[in-house]
Amino acid sequence: MKTQSNDFKKRVVYQIYPASFKDSNNDGWGDLKGIISKLDYLKDLGVGILWLSPIYPSPMDDMGYDISDYKNINPRFGTMDDFDELIKEASKRDIRIVMDLVINHTSTDHEWFKKAIETPENKYRNYYYIKKGKNSKKPPNNRDSMFTGSAWKKVDNLPGYYYMHLFCDTQADLNYHNEEVIKEVESILKFWLDKGVYGFRCDVINHIYKTSLKDDHSRILYNRGIKYYGTQDGMFKILTRFRTEVLDNYDTFLVGETGNITIEDGNRFINERCLDTFFEFDHSGADKNKFIPILKAKLKPKRLVKPIFKWIKGVPWLGVYLENHDQLRSVNRYGNVDKYYKESAKLLALFLLSLKGTPFIYQGEELGCLNYREFSMSDCKDIAAITATKTVERLLKLSEKKAFKLVNETTNRDHARNPMPWNKSVNGGFNEGHETWLKVNDLYQTINAEDEEKDPDSILNFYKKMIKFRNESDVLKFGDFKDEIVTNKLITYYRTYQNKTYQIVLNFSDKIIKYCGLLNLKLLISNYEAQENFKTLPPYFAGIFEVI
Ligand code: GLC
Repeated sequence: MKTQSNDFKKRVVYQIYPASFKDSNNDGWGDLKGIISKLDYLKDLGVGILWLSPIYPSPMDDMGYDISDYKNINPRFGTMDDFDELIKEASKRDIRIVMDLVINHTSTDHEWFKKAIETPENKYRNYYYIKKGKNSKKPPNNRDSMFTGSAWKKVDNLPGYYYMHLFCDTQADLNYHNEEVIKEVESILKFWLDKGVYGFRCDVINHIYKTSLKDDHSRILYNRGIKYYGTQDGMFKILTRFRTEVLDNYDTFLVGETGNITIEDGNRFINERCLDTFFEFDHSGADKNKFIPILKAKLKPKRLVKPIFKWIKGVPWLGVYLENHDQLRSVNRYGNVDKYYKESAKLLALFLLSLKGTPFIYQGEELGCLNYREFSMSDCKDIAAITATKTVERLLKLSEKKAFKLVNETTNRDHARNPMPWNKSVNGGFNEGHETWLKVNDLYQTINAEDEEKDPDSILNFYKKMIKFRNESDVLKFGDFKDEIVTNKLITYYRTYQNKTYQIVLNFSDKIIKYCGLLNLKLLISNYEAQENFKTLPPYFAGIFEVI
């Protein structure tokens, strides 16, 4: 067994969305050469691990989460030589690369799927769930797709047959009851680890193992069937097998995307060595209606912070995040864009980077990037938002425009996926002016990396300061988390390591609040200028104090 560096416990992770990071050849798509050209920016930011959203060949129906070849590079993003160069250049800067591993499903353009439906009997048929319908008109069961609608689609050239897709209809679910599928994945893991990647972010990993194809008669509005595929025992066993048969031979790191799990599941992931850490989703509903998540709700900071604290305390190690490529921008959701834009963005930075666990920053979060101000259905590229709009239109009998308005406010993933604003020039410096695959957010005139680098008070410079502080602080990296107070305004918690204790204090509101707890504390870092004493906390104040 290879000695483990546990770098994931010491470093900050930065997620890159390759299509939108930096376009080096001006074709409208970001690429690997573009990422290489920004490694110095990332080094300077202080991050130590890069997670790349999928860069494999793909028809891009779900932006690369529909893979058609697991051991190659999508020509839009470059070549395998570019990838090798990226690993080399990153490693020169002591930055490690994590790939996205999407193994719940493949694209229907994958050779395996094409072969599976080509002839009646062949070994690939059993790689997927290709099943006869109940009768000529009905699919095998009532599973819902996570993107709404049925999870089954008719196979064109196999009359009476359907294939299962828990996501969009060109993402066919793999069958993990088939030993050969497990072996294929082991060979994929080995392929990339041998190239020098540090590990994988495992896409919807707790859904890979399906125990039954029965109808689900539970009275739920969506995700019917999840009791037969969500976090099943068979999935834990497969992941443990990946660990012992492949991963243990490398210094490596697995983080899982694991929706709808319990604290007990989280402990199993880590204790059974299935994953090193994982993402919970309980907090991401904080600004949405509890029952109908497509509807926006006014943020209650408690709903954001409490679940995160519950998870931090409940499991050995958590992947902590506020943004990713599937969520709207965090300052719009949890901050105060109109009156305290900078203060609230910096509060979110200090909050994220002072938590116990591995912090994940999503590209542009460090600049305080915001959602689009204007966006219509015709601009939309997100397959999930497009599908959801059609469903909302049908179910609520709304016009397309009204249905899209609802989806756009809560779930349209394009808000986070647009080209990174590097400077004020054309297309925000993402490229040299070629039309981009998804429209540029016009806010680049005021929010961009170059201007923020020059401004000592910028959000970017605060992220740099905060990441440096964390990188140099054993208390923040390794300390316990305890004694939290959570109200809808004041939030405080302690981090302790050996004989040092820090208290983190956040005013999650636009009001000045009284707080007398700070008299004997020394301020170490904050989003406001230091003050004589802190009997009151200004709006969106965030600070780390040493208890002396
Ligand atoms: C994950 C990805 C998301 C994708 C889905 C299907 O949730 O983060 O972007 O659409 O899986 O692969």
